[in-house]
Amino acid sequence: MQLYGVLGNPIAHSKSPMIHAMFARNCGIDLEYKAFCLAKDNFEGELAELIHQGLLGANVTVPFKENAFRFAHELTAEAIEAGAVNTLRFSDDKFIGHNTDGNGLLCDLVDRHHLVLANKRILVLGAGGATKGILGPLLRANPSEIMISNRTHEKAVRLAEDFNQKGNINACEWQNLSGRFDLIINATSSSLSNEFTPLPCEIDASTIGYDLMYGTKPTIFMEYLAENGAEKSFDGLGMLVEQAALSFEFWHGIKPKTEMVYQDLRQVLLSYTADC
Ligand code: ATR
Repeated sequence: MQLYGVLGNPIAHSKSPMIHAMFARNCGIDLEYKAFCLAKDNFEGELAELIHQGLLGANVTVPFKENAFRFAHELTAEAIEAGAVNTLRFSDDKFIGHNTDGNGLLCDLVDRHHLVLANKRILVLGAGGATKGILGPLLRANPSEIMISNRTHEKAVRLAEDFNQKGNINACEWQNLSGRFDLIINATSSSLSNEFTPLPCEIDASTIGYDLMYGTKPTIFMEYLAENGAEKSFDGLGMLVEQAALSFEFWHGIKPKTEMVYQDLRQVLLSYTADC
């Protein structure tokens, strides 16, 4: 049986084994996909042991995406642009590092939620690894501008400089944000701490929100936008499923259908709420 898995720490709550089991069943591929919790100080050693046991490919999540970037022998253009690896494929004794996060977000925004990004003004909140992973694919969708804003302003400035050859991208201090954005993407980890610093820019009924995080209920960012009049916000569950589908395609050469898997996963999340 082919062995795949997701590498992280912590990893117990990962939905990836469920997602990949559904993809494999739907595509008629026989594989085993497990969650592996690796020691934070021994990523390389423990991954080498898993490869020895026959691991053919892996998703990589927090906190190992940069370790995987350094570990890979070859990197795809997407991984180089993101500076991080969320998908590893082992073939011919080589480890190829890839990144499907940004294109997964694009698939969710455009294919599932039918958003048009061309000529739109997009605000991205946060300037960490998650932001770096999505900027390239977002810029390729030809927005009129991407503005980055971050609690630590210098990091936003640096990221805007890193990507400014690829489109109109700027940084703005959070308290100086002004005007209207068509789409506001929360790529901060503020939802984890359940606190959100108010945004001084305009928010109206047609402002669309997207949080890369997801949970059993709307995130604090989605609630903030709704309280301020935005009628539509999405969480990152769709991105999770889409980045997984792109990883699956990278390993198996088949792009699985995602809608049923997304709906099933949403039901699973809702059932957790009902249990509480
Ligand atoms: P990730 O890989 O998820 O992007 P990260 O690289 O640690 O994780 O980045 C976390 C991002 O969330 C950063 O932009 C961080 O802001 P700082 O650069 O100032 O640290 C942002 N962040 C975390 N908690 C936040 C909060 N409560 N409010 C606003 N931004 C927050």
